[in-house]
Amino acid sequence: MPIETLQDKVVISLTPPALATPTTTGAVPATCTIYLHGATVTSWTVNGREMLFLSSKAILDGSKPIRGGIPLVFPQFGTYPGAPLPQHGFARTSTWRVLRTDVSPDETKATVVFVLTSSDLSLAARTAWPTPFRLEYTVTVDAVHHTLATDLAATNLATTTEFDMPFTWLLHTYLRVDAIEKTEIRGLEGHLYVNKAIADRDPTTQAFPALPIKEETDRVYQNVVPAAESHLHVLSGGRPAVEIVRTHGETAFRDVVVWNPWVDKAKAMADFGDDEYRHMVCVEVGDVVVPNAVSVAPGETRRAGQVLRALL
Ligand code: BG6
Repeated sequence: MPIETLQDKVVISLTPPALATPTTTGAVPATCTIYLHGATVTSWTVNGREMLFLSSKAILDGSKPIRGGIPLVFPQFGTYPGAPLPQHGFARTSTWRVLRTDVSPDETKATVVFVLTSSDLSLAARTAWPTPFRLEYTVTVDAVHHTLATDLAATNLATTTEFDMPFTWLLHTYLRVDAIEKTEIRGLEGHLYVNKAIADRDPTTQAFPALPIKEETDRVYQNVVPAAESHLHVLSGGRPAVEIVRTHGETAFRDVVVWNPWVDKAKAMADFGDDEYRHMVCVEVGDVVVPNAVSVAPGETRRAGQVLRALL
């Protein structure tokens, strides 16, 4: 069975057919695990290779956000004085429901759709963020194209024009890397960023095509408008390892966060191994820069997503 729904997670397991047909040429085994807690993708393998980072100390029992994979940030990125919600909002700590699943006839592609609405929230979250909403999260694994697509759709369920739904959102993707000192990110050259890792937070322009990670990194790049020639790439040892394509045209995610806690912050996190910063980098696409972040009118839906492609 390519999709198995268990009590706390959904497991996708695609095994390409023994006899390749023209439509399945290039197919390799692909798997994916998604916890209902936060609808957090915790694993994505392509041809036996794990593409996502999940901390060995990650807590998976629903008592904390999961440290690794793809936690969903909604409706609040980070935190600030007077913020209505805890850091990164409630999507990553809520229990989502499976709405439907689908497998292509040749079993090389599988989709799981999750849903979260206001009525699924804890009383504390609903009180802090009273706008009625519906969030759909679609996860698709494709064994032919070696991709993992994660799409969000946020609907404002308010019935009067008084209730626009402003929010920030982001796919907090933890990518597994062989060695951080051999890792660089491309696609951000010429874009303005704020470095949250230092006290001086004046916006700076990234001058170079490659961003290596050599220290604590917490950069928020603004308005990196997606274009075919500017897809984001994560390289390992000079070789492209993962491509990140933002989807949905005009409503595509515009901002990109690059995060690595490095030595001291790694030690300070209880759910993260001291040396694990060497094997991960977060490249997070979203709309997080206020006041340009998203606002959805009553009855309307905003869609955005990413496709991660493993470059084997
Ligand atoms: C990043 C933020 O998106 O998430 C960082 O830019 C933050 O500032 C990081 O430290 C991890 O956040 P958390 O809440 O999962 O520890």
